[in-house]
Amino acid sequence: MDNLLPLKDAAQQFGVKLDRLRRAAWDGRLMARLVGNQWLVEPEEVARFLRDAGRRPAPAPVSVAKRGDGMARIIAVAVPKGGTGKTTTTLNLGAALAAQGQRVLLVDFDPQGNLTQSLGLRPGDLEHTAYTAIKHFLTSFEPQLERAVLSTPVGVDLVPTSARLNLANDELAVAIQREFVLQKLLAPLVSSYDIILIDTLPYLGVLVVNALVAAQEVLVPLQSEYLATESVALMMDQVQLMRRSGLNPELRVLGILLTMVDQRTVIHREAVEYARRVFGNRVPIFEAMVKRSVRFPESQASHTSILAYDPEGDGARAYRLLAEEVLHGTA
Ligand SMILES: Nc1ncnc2c1ncn2[C@@H]1O[C@H](COP(=O)(O)OP(=O)(O)O)[C@@H](O)[C@H]1O
Ligand SMILES: [Mg+2]
Repeated sequence: MDNLLPLKDAAQQFGVKLDRLRRAAWDGRLMARLVGNQWLVEPEEVARFLRDAGRRPAPAPVSVAKRGDGMARIIAVAVPKGGTGKTTTTLNLGAALAAQGQRVLLVDFDPQGNLTQSLGLRPGDLEHTAYTAIKHFLTSFEPQLERAVLSTPVGVDLVPTSARLNLANDELAVAIQREFVLQKLLAPLVSSYDIILIDTLPYLGVLVVNALVAAQEVLVPLQSEYLATESVALMMDQVQLMRRSGLNPELRVLGILLTMVDQRTVIHREAVEYARRVFGNRVPIFEAMVKRSVRFPESQASHTSILAYDPEGDGARAYRLLAEEVLHGTA
């Protein structure tokens, strides 16, 4: 591993555009290591990539990817950091997509159950949850997730969870094909929905891997205040791993969503510019940007979406625009 080159040098050596190698590194077609903000790559790997690229057609742009076969698009909302707006985004993007006539299923796959609670349910009261479906599957291999599906007042369906989902960590660890359980559970439901959003937990492990196997796309929220670029970079590495390991060769980053942006301060403006510089050339950053607003925790405490709670506000507008971008691509 001591013949690692910075991507810039590799581009020069092979006479190709740096941007091409960067994009390939970010979406996992080129195996490279991210050290700080710099990609390092082995020359043999660049040679392999260029050889293979000559044989395979370039992938279609991510944001306009459509399945068009009556099967739901499955999007995991994921980044290995807490408090970045994953749950808020799952709920409000889901509500905004439903308002556009999409049939939406949300899956609460975080044992904390914040999504479940935000929609007014008490996890302890529920007979059927994501966890009970996993448990049943591990003993019977029957996918019975539909038992757990509930309708909600914000126009989306929900697979709720309880804290018992924590137990699935250990139970899945010894299970056959442990990475594929959520994919198998969702399979009977994909023809009933247009979009399935999976809310994930803030650290990488078997539950997140299950979400990343089930999904075709990953939406990565980046909290602007603390400039959580490191966790976004980690997420990109994980996507790359999913592809290279063969667990999900087609997995793509749909885009990065800037959340909790406070445009009044210089720090936040700089943060946004920095994010565009560091990530913007490599994966799409959504035009939609979610500003910090107390309306979000308020809407969640009222067990509703930002669209219902403050329909004319910036927050509702941002999630409506995000829904447009998810459906039709960024302009
Ligand atoms: N744009 C925002 N402005 C202000 N508060 C927000 C915003 N988005 C989310 N929050 C609040 O921040 C907290 C963490 O958000 P959450 O979506 O639960 O993050 P995660 O799921 O990544 O842990 C929640 O209390 C939520 O209500
Ligand atoms: Mg959460």
